[in-house]
Amino acid sequence: MEAPPRPELFDFHGVPMTKFFTDNWENVKTFKAKPDDIVIATYPKSGTTWVCYLLDRLFFGKTKPEIETSLPLYMRVPFLELCIPGYPKGKDLADQLTITPRLIKTHLPVQLVPETFWENNCKTVYVARNPKDVAVSFFHFSRMNSIHPSPGDWDGFLQRFMEGKLTYGAWHQHVVGWWEKKQTYPNLHYIFYEDLTENVGREIDKLCTFLGLSVSAEEKESIMTAVQFENMRDNKLTNFTNAPLMNLKVSPFMRKGKVGDWRNHFTASQSERCDEHYKQLIRSPGLRFRTEVI
Ligand code: A3P
Repeated sequence: MEAPPRPELFDFHGVPMTKFFTDNWENVKTFKAKPDDIVIATYPKSGTTWVCYLLDRLFFGKTKPEIETSLPLYMRVPFLELCIPGYPKGKDLADQLTITPRLIKTHLPVQLVPETFWENNCKTVYVARNPKDVAVSFFHFSRMNSIHPSPGDWDGFLQRFMEGKLTYGAWHQHVVGWWEKKQTYPNLHYIFYEDLTENVGREIDKLCTFLGLSVSAEEKESIMTAVQFENMRDNKLTNFTNAPLMNLKVSPFMRKGKVGDWRNHFTASQSERCDEHYKQLIRSPGLRFRTEVI
């Protein structure tokens, strides 16, 4: 199918959005969550796919091997608000899931998440990543994915990122909003891309505690292998081969998978400006971002 023209951003309840994430809003807003649904929430380009696959393997790696070998991850873990003409809507895919628990992905800022998830006290995993690597990843993603406005050049893109003028709005409001939610909603597990990179085994243990799961040493080893960057990159079911509207020849979805790729894009002055900007904006106690993992 031919890609639709690049969308315009517009103000949606105070957040810049495009029609591909808002056209099905009435149905998204009234989505009927179930108590055992698990939400995976992130600002775009923060490691969503990584954590979706990790949870998919943790829950279904043993019991549903046939799904593991046939359905792409983006069908197994529906993207709730996604609505692209000619393709199944995320909300409908979620409704159609017959597995338990349903894993549901969203990039919505916390204030726009359908109430029914909170009413049902659904377990929620939020993944955050440092703003410099997010900006670089979002830039390349916008080059290859026509459901976002065209990124233009890197300097202009970075400027708009820092001003919160990209789809899903300001990165800092997203990560801070979810961090604050965690203070009053115990069923929220907040993790960092950098921590996953540093020690995925440790993060799996924490996820298992949060989700009430136990895995054998053997299963854990097999999950750790499956979710390695190279293995997800080479796996057609996780690397977005055949995904709607992505041109993987322009930039692969599984691009670098590293902490610190920002060094290959930021000038010294861009880096300084960005550090200073977020030093002013991220002031919540306990919320810290690492731009290096040594
Ligand atoms: P890069 O563009 O920096 O490579 P999302 O899933 O939220 O869209 O995030 C995509 C980013 O996560 C991309 O970052 C992608 O390469 C990275 N990623 C995906 N799977 C990963 C994995 N198994 N290990 C490390 N990074 C991963």
